[in-house]
Amino acid sequence: MKIESLKLVYFSPSGTTKTIIEGIARGFNYNPVETIDVTKPEVRKQQLQTSENDLLVIGVPVYVGRVPTIAIDWLYTLQARSTPTVCIVVCWRTHFFTLQPMQAFIVKYLIK
Ligand SMILES: Cc1cc2nc3c(=O)[nH]c(=O)nc-3n(C[C@H](O)[C@H](O)[C@H](O)COP(=O)(O)O)c2cc1C
Repeated sequence: MKIESLKLVYFSPSGTTKTIIEGIARGFNYNPVETIDVTKPEVRKQQLQTSENDLLVIGVPVYVGRVPTIAIDWLYTLQARSTPTVCIVVCWRTHFFTLQPMQAFIVKYLIK
């Protein structure tokens, strides 16, 4: 496995998750970087494919105790084969019950 590009995916209605994900991306210092802002409905219509040579960083917020359904629905359309993935959940306070489903999602669908 050799990471050749960074793919940033975020759902960020009020912008905090976006800011955090972009800060993390600066720390990784990869080039090229592809940014996919799935807050935008037109972006959610496009399917994203990633490979083992990408590093995928997914950022989502917690709203009312959950990752928003819109974001989860889009994540299920991801075609991510053997892609190393970092998942960031942004909230006011630590929320185990959102991290756990995100981890389950990653294990079930992304790590194959
Ligand atoms: C309507 C609303 C509901 C929220 N519900 C929760 C929550 O249940 N638990 C929590 O920890 N944070 C909650 N938050 C805080 C958000 O997760 C936090 O503001 C996050 O940074 C928003 O991400 P965004 O700016 O990328 O949209 C809520 C915020 C709003 C506005």
